[in-house]
Amino acid sequence: MFSPPKSDIISIIIHVNNKQNNLEITSLILSHLFEKILKIWYNIDKKKGGYYMNKTVDLLNQYLSDLAVMNTKLHNLHWNVTGKAFKQVHVYLEELYDDVFEKYDEVAERIKMLQGYPKASIKDYLETSKIKELASKDISTEDAFKSVSYDYGYLKELAMEVRIIADSEDDFVTVAILEDHVAFYDKVLYFVRQTLK
Ligand SMILES: [Fe+2]
Repeated sequence: MFSPPKSDIISIIIHVNNKQNNLEITSLILSHLFEKILKIWYNIDKKKGGYYMNKTVDLLNQYLSDLAVMNTKLHNLHWNVTGKAFKQVHVYLEELYDDVFEKYDEVAERIKMLQGYPKASIKDYLETSKIKELASKDISTEDAFKSVSYDYGYLKELAMEVRIIADSEDDFVTVAILEDHVAFYDKVLYFVRQTLK
């Protein structure tokens, strides 16, 4: 159960009493109160004809930045990996960056559907992402897989965190998207960890 802020209740009573015949003003005040309740109790802002889910959009932008940097990092590994099973690892890393790129676009479009703005510059991605880039130099297949294992562990944890927040905001579409992502990350982690044994 929620209680609207007292100052809003009082302002409504005063206005309704003073302007009983002015339905337009009363309806504006009620609409204002409704938006305040959404903001205070559910952390949702009304923007441009829709409702902006603050926490979900903020976390999706974190996730988007990580996917953007991960895309470049996977290309780096794909190009510079050396050693045993080179071809298999090289091809597998290409599969991963293709998948990351699809997720990147999917997350940005989901942010738009939630009336938010996806981060859309390399500068923003580098400032926001928690994925650490690597220098462009030779890397063994083992170290490449260790790096993938570490980063995909992080992406999985973050996707699970965003899923929980989206669920708390009744955003079941984002929940479904992230559940698919987590399932895929589990497969990658299984594959990579089995290879590293
Ligand atoms: Fe390639």
